[in-house]
Amino acid sequence: MKIAVVGATGATGRRVVKHALAQGHFITAGARHPERLSSPDRLSLVRGDVLSPGGLTGALDGVEAVISSIGPEKNLSPGALMSVGAVSILTECKRANVRRFIMQSGIGLSDGLELSCPSRFVVRVSGRIFTASVIDKALAERMTQKIDMEWVIVRPVGLLDKPAKGRYTAGPLARVAVLVPLSFDDCAACLLRAATDEPTGSEKL
Ligand SMILES: NC(=O)c1ccc[n+]([C@@H]2O[C@H](COP(=O)([O-])OP(=O)(O)OC[C@H]3O[C@@H](n4cnc5c(N)ncnc54)[C@H](OP(=O)(O)O)[C@@H]3O)[C@@H](O)[C@H]2O)c1
Repeated sequence: MKIAVVGATGATGRRVVKHALAQGHFITAGARHPERLSSPDRLSLVRGDVLSPGGLTGALDGVEAVISSIGPEKNLSPGALMSVGAVSILTECKRANVRRFIMQSGIGLSDGLELSCPSRFVVRVSGRIFTASVIDKALAERMTQKIDMEWVIVRPVGLLDKPAKGRYTAGPLARVAVLVPLSFDDCAACLLRAATDEPTGSEKL
């Protein structure tokens, strides 16, 4: 498949690119500083800033699915990266006739109803600390849910640079353990699966 990864220089984005190449996909890596990535076969590098008007124009031509792993530098003062970024990416997806959009969000967007009491408590407390981040991501999620194309929102728990387990729990009603971090690699595998063979709808990882 032809897949674009926006935020390809990030901790998750890099792993999505790595997994996708290993599975034989053709990847467009969108990044503000694509020179930070090597470019093996089947990987095209595209420079793009989602906060610049038209910053992604032409970057998604010929792409079937787009995975967004963008994220703000500071979660306490996230600005409007996720919501403005979603507008940029979704606008370009529509222009380029992309079929499917995968958004990496966060468990903080869950209402917590499917979680255990301790996990729900953690989500609620962190929502009070990272309010601006939750609001910005909520706007991005809402725009994604309204777009007339296939989409999946993945809401990971905390992520760590640790060995992949090769398995994870995901799904709209997944009872994940919020305090048990997941490896970036397992998250990347889930995002890629959502782009290639998962049913659409809201996902929690
Ligand atoms: N890490 C966690 O524990 C965790 C847990 C749950 C959810 N999440 C969410 O998952 C997403 C990815 O997380 P991560 O830890 O992989 O993020 P990360 O390592 O901070 O990477 C963020 C990526 O976004 C890119 N980016 C930032 N501003 C941009 C802009 N204006 N235009 C284009 N690209 C831009 C960065 O590019 P540069 O390299 O140019 O800066 C980088 O590639 C975030 O939304 C995060 O909130 C993370």
